[in-house]
Amino acid sequence: MFVIGGWIARLVGFLVRLPFRFPVLVGSLTGSAAVAYWLGWVWLGVALALVGGGLGVWWWRWPSSFRRLVGLRALGAWRWVWVYHRHWQPVLVVAGLAESYLERQYLPRIRRVTCSDWSDRVRVKLVAGTSPADFEERVVELAHGFGAPSCRVTVRGPRDIVLEFPRRDMLADTIGAMPVPADVDLKALPMGTCEDGSPWLLRLHGTHVLTVGVTGSGKGSVIWSAVRAMTPAIEAGTVRVWAIDPKRMELSYGRTLFARYADDGEAAVELLERAVAAMQDRAARYAGKQRAHVPTVDDPFLVIVVDEVAFLTAYHPDRDVRRRAENALATLTSQGRSVGVAVLAALQDPRKEVLNLRNLFPDKIALRLDEASQVDMVLGEGARDRGANAHLIDPDLPGVAFVRLEGSSIPVRVRAAYVSDEDITAMATDMEGVA
Ligand SMILES: Nc1ncnc2c1ncn2[C@@H]1O[C@H](COP(=O)(O)OP(=O)(O)O)[C@@H](O)[C@H]1O
Ligand SMILES: [Mg+2]
Repeated sequence: MFVIGGWIARLVGFLVRLPFRFPVLVGSLTGSAAVAYWLGWVWLGVALALVGGGLGVWWWRWPSSFRRLVGLRALGAWRWVWVYHRHWQPVLVVAGLAESYLERQYLPRIRRVTCSDWSDRVRVKLVAGTSPADFEERVVELAHGFGAPSCRVTVRGPRDIVLEFPRRDMLADTIGAMPVPADVDLKALPMGTCEDGSPWLLRLHGTHVLTVGVTGSGKGSVIWSAVRAMTPAIEAGTVRVWAIDPKRMELSYGRTLFARYADDGEAAVELLERAVAAMQDRAARYAGKQRAHVPTVDDPFLVIVVDEVAFLTAYHPDRDVRRRAENALATLTSQGRSVGVAVLAALQDPRKEVLNLRNLFPDKIALRLDEASQVDMVLGEGARDRGANAHLIDPDLPGVAFVRLEGSSIPVRVRAAYVSDEDITAMATDMEGVA
């Protein structure tokens, strides 16, 4: 008896909620039924043909607004019913996200499903007494459960979270080198694309950036995209790049872009120590007069690019070189920010033994990593639980990375643009014309 009562209550609740959840669908069905009832089938056919024709014209003339207002909404309703509602209970129960209390089961409730061009956003009302962290820890189960490549959790408010499931990978194709901005914004260099299709902008002025990834993960494309975005300022003399390339493979191409260049250990350490001296000279000049650095030709923004930084700090055979390199890097990263000196370094292995200064870099980029445990080493505690699966990045997608954008703790998946050898040669040749 109770069971049947419960069923009826749920059915009534469903019917009452239906018009609020799917107003357009319920409205058009009732409208059609009314037309058929009062005017007859012929008029229903005429009305449907008119509406269909209208939609067709809309789709033909204004495809983007049609897509936004009709296509994506219809898709959202469809995916709500067919994917999320249908699999909701089994997936959540098996993933351990259903709560039981006094032999009753409580499930978080779907509030709304909306579709963007690339993802489904499922807004969920949590069961009272549970925390969003429960979902953050189960992103892998949820992604597999709903047939998506990944899942990301965003907290909107109390008991109000959004699960974002990508439908397709916007970063699957190589991104060609970004157009060079005429006006260089050192706080927002165009680097590539974010997962949602928006541009990935990197701040370099006022911070230091550490790029971590295994061999072949695309560290070079991060460095080159940043250098490329600054070329007009390098030409104008308001930015100077000093480059260290221990492997002699990555940066030697574009030497005319660099005000200084070093490849062996001794020369690299000298370059770093010169940078420290320049920085300290600047700090002494600024003391008591100026608190922030503004790039000018006399006082340019100085970027120290170090590829494979562990070659200097951990693997170099000479202990003295290792120690001096580490000291210089520590000084630059701890004191350079406010006087216009930034370090942009690339590294393969994020463990402490290899680079124990990694926390002196406020901003980090996690390209493909070897092990799951390295994700939090690079992006900070909790990054992997929030979906930054840098260890699962497809080896066939070099340049894909997770980053934390300013003012947000949620890691974002991005792909760096690929700056080809021809692009670099063109950039370097332009620079020769200037020099
Ligand atoms: N952003 C990118 N998009 C597409 N392909 C890339 C990208 N970055 C690198 N690659 C490819 O991957 C290879 C290795 O990249 P590289 O930057 O040398 O890796 P790493 O310096 O991390 O060892 C490159 O030769 C290139 O073919
Ligand atoms: Mg490299």
